Amino acid sequence: MTRTAEMQQSIAVVDLGGQYCHMIGRRLRDLGVRSDILPHNASCENLAGYAGIILSGGPQSVYAQESPKVDSDILKLEKPILGICYGHQLLAKLLDCDVTPGNEEYGQATLTLRDKGSLFYDTPKAQTVWMSHGDSVRTLSAGLKSLAQTDACKIAAFGDFDRKLFGVQFHPEVDHTQYGRQLLENFTRKICEVRGQEKIEDTVNRLIQTIRDRVGNRSVFFFVSGGVDSTVAFTLCARALPKERVIGVYVDTGMMRKNETEELRDLLSSAGLSEQLRIYDASDQFLTALKGQTDPEEKRKIIGKQFIDVQSQAMREYGIDSEHWMLGQGTIYPDTIESGGASGVSALIKTHHNRCDEVREMIANDRVIEPLAEFYKDEVRKIGRILDLSEKLTGRWPFPGPGLAIRVLGTEKTEQITKFPLEKKFKNYKAYKFPIRSVGVQGDGRTYREIVAIRGPLTDYKSLAELSVTLCNRGRIFNRAIVQVAGSAIDLSEGQVRCGGLSNARIELLRQADHVVRTKMEERKQTKSVWQFPVVLIPVSLEGGETIVLRPVNSEDGMTANWARLQPNLLKDIGEAVAEIPGVDAVFLDITDKPPATIEWE
Ligand code: XMP
Repeated sequence: MTRTAEMQQSIAVVDLGGQYCHMIGRRLRDLGVRSDILPHNASCENLAGYAGIILSGGPQSVYAQESPKVDSDILKLEKPILGICYGHQLLAKLLDCDVTPGNEEYGQATLTLRDKGSLFYDTPKAQTVWMSHGDSVRTLSAGLKSLAQTDACKIAAFGDFDRKLFGVQFHPEVDHTQYGRQLLENFTRKICEVRGQEKIEDTVNRLIQTIRDRVGNRSVFFFVSGGVDSTVAFTLCARALPKERVIGVYVDTGMMRKNETEELRDLLSSAGLSEQLRIYDASDQFLTALKGQTDPEEKRKIIGKQFIDVQSQAMREYGIDSEHWMLGQGTIYPDTIESGGASGVSALIKTHHNRCDEVREMIANDRVIEPLAEFYKDEVRKIGRILDLSEKLTGRWPFPGPGLAIRVLGTEKTEQITKFPLEKKFKNYKAYKFPIRSVGVQGDGRTYREIVAIRGPLTDYKSLAELSVTLCNRGRIFNRAIVQVAGSAIDLSEGQVRCGGLSNARIELLRQADHVVRTKMEERKQTKSVWQFPVVLIPVSLEGGETIVLRPVNSEDGMTANWARLQPNLLKDIGEAVAEIPGVDAVFLDITDKPPATIEWE
């Protein structure tokens, strides 16, 4: 298909800075509708070729000086337009309607339809929608019709059926909007008349073509970690370009899991990629650079920088000149948004190793290719399956680039563990404050807070969940709660958090525990019952050793997650096996959702 023909079957999503903008693209993909996300200052010329335009939400008010605007000539294009939230207000403004501050509405609301025409086709008169706005459209200009209302918002949707212009104050792209998917389908299929049905196979072919176009006659140098993202991205490049122009380097950082190198070799050779794989041992230099480090952001920055150094060393060693080579990365969408870098408006939660300053600079110089940067994990898995990668690979638990380094926690000083009072209704439990901090995400921002450790009935998951929520919501002290599963029975307040940072011995202890957990999950055929299963080492010493925390989670895309309710006998079995490892004093289970805690501890 030519680019012009492709655009005629695609939607332009104009990014006005909303945190869910990217979700619109994702939802359209789920519907088989192609879209491109364009910046708010995209010219009308660029927008003209599309079947329709969606104006995203945005954090601003249309009256704010710096608020993003679109070219007013957009109306002259005579294309169907759907404005969402801020986009709805912006479109109303362009159409000379009144938009005024006030009537704030956050969260769920009931929408009552006045018109069940094309936009709301096949949806009921009353439906749940998700709202998040301060300003509202108050009056409509001639030709526009109010289509729906909520209690707080009289014009929650408007439309001009002849000119195919529509606005909705709510967010159809989020899950909480009951018929959001139908609305987007109505807009794209009925109003914009998009006929094409992009299948995942088409997506893969398009990605391969994009790689060829972007790379040109350069070559690509990849770091593969054995994780799903980097392997799928590498495979895409290997399918797109001649063999000699793609190299995958597996860096042994000294922070990988047990048997990782052998497993990766097997996985890549079954995908026919072993010839392009190089193994580079950089464990000494990573460990030296990280020795004694305790600060999570510092550790992540050091790791990112080390990868860049290794890249130059390896390139020299393999006789590759930087002029003609690009760096390939398996970055996926949540990595960029959590690194605060998506549209420049989101908060920094963690600097992912592939977003350190050096990489940002290379991106600015067009020296990085990230074929999966638009996608979410579940989509990457589907792409991997289309590329015929084995289920063993596509079904793997995500493993972060920085490896075990961000799962070995350290602290600057030795401190005593203290008791923490609980309300009467939790009388079966005892709580303790562990003076060691982990990263969380609360109210869209990063937190770095202490841990609350609980002892009590382990099988009562309901009470534990309640306890965890109560403790993390109270007084801004904690962002994470854990409960003891196995190990030492001494009173926790007799234990202490021991001063120390990253070391070889500590990584090795964690590696053993991680291996026991993985083996147990495999033996019990439970690997697929959780989305990811980090195992974490914390410097909590009860009887001279350290403590392990199990962090099994379920999630769709890593952006939000629930702690996994493992079968109690499985949990007990894993806990006891880990507690038997010499040097492990106790084993805990992390019982915190994301938010308030992140999946990884650092
Ligand atoms: P958090 O801990 O932010 O993690 O809830 C969400 C998902 O991202 C993975 N993760 C990383 N992956 N480089 C990566 O390739 C990183 O620096 C990184 N940090 C977190 C994490 O394992 C989880 O699946």
